[in-house]
Amino acid sequence: MELTMSALQPVFFHGTARGPHRDALLRRMLQTGEVHPSLHYLSGRQASLWMRVHEVHAPLFQDHAFVGIFERVAKRLSGMGVFGGVVALGPGGGEKEVLMLEAVDRSGVGVEFVAIDASAELALMSVERADQVGGGRTMAVVGDLEELGGILESVGEYEGRGARVFTAFGITPNLLPEGLLSSIRLGMRDGDILAISANLAREGVDEEVPGMRDVREVVLAQYDNEETRQWLRRLLVEEGLEVDYGDVRFEVGQIEGNCAVIADACLVSRRAGLPERLKLFFSLRFTARTFPELLRRHGFNVFSAEVTTCGHEAVWLCSRAD
Ligand SMILES: C[S@@+](CC[C@H](N)C(=O)[O-])C[C@H]1O[C@@H](n2cnc3c(N)ncnc32)[C@H](O)[C@@H]1O
Repeated sequence: MELTMSALQPVFFHGTARGPHRDALLRRMLQTGEVHPSLHYLSGRQASLWMRVHEVHAPLFQDHAFVGIFERVAKRLSGMGVFGGVVALGPGGGEKEVLMLEAVDRSGVGVEFVAIDASAELALMSVERADQVGGGRTMAVVGDLEELGGILESVGEYEGRGARVFTAFGITPNLLPEGLLSSIRLGMRDGDILAISANLAREGVDEEVPGMRDVREVVLAQYDNEETRQWLRRLLVEEGLEVDYGDVRFEVGQIEGNCAVIADACLVSRRAGLPERLKLFFSLRFTARTFPELLRRHGFNVFSAEVTTCGHEAVWLCSRAD
């Protein structure tokens, strides 16, 4: 995508994108060893390194079947005559979100594309992509999706009428579902639709944790590679911890009953006050059975599903169940 380097770009900063919030996340990291997912996307360099991981390892760029499910969802949305904008949650580069924007009727809508992301760079990149699609107003919002309720309240002041399509693509591996789904549901108005994807593991027989074998045999390699190591280590470089922690290691484990690829790094220096182990990253894997169950449990009415033939990614369309 060509960047409009010379133009000034407006960006809205929520309180959770400001220094004090981010300092608190870093302090928590050093006290508990838990790294908040957003900390891997904050600087321009981290965003570029993530884009590289995305381009080299995301199945979207290797196999057209992955784009196909998003195209089919967009087609379904256009057939529904949804009149409103798109609120993109964690859009990254915005490739999938823009397909949805093309599918909604935007005549007379106020702001038609809102990108909410922890990374200013990625929020802007997705807005620039959306600007290439239509002539309507777009809005880049930088903030932490863990405070989505408050962010959506502020965004509401700028939006126009119509039902909106919320997109939550590629973020369910990194954000624990409980908080994410409850805040999306609370932020949705009557008529709004949620298009949400999950990276899936294929469920085997007699597995204690559904999908665990597939994560070990297929998914792990998408993370255990040089590009991902470089991206995750960038946080250590920026925080002056590069020499304190050894190699990034990847393993398969479980988080809240779901299987996950988990990355950590162990302390190798004698510097006092640093946690022995930094839990750098996790990527959750649901199955084609467990994820829609989770959506229903969180008060969504699931009315459409598109799953890749390989069974590794799906997108669901939902409305609020009440
Ligand atoms: C794996 S990428 C997915 C990007 C894109 N939607 C896709 O499917 O390719 C995760 C995105 O969520 C954003 N993100 C991660 N944690 C976040 C948080 N706590 N708050 C806001 N954005 C977050 C990242 O900056 C990144 O853009």
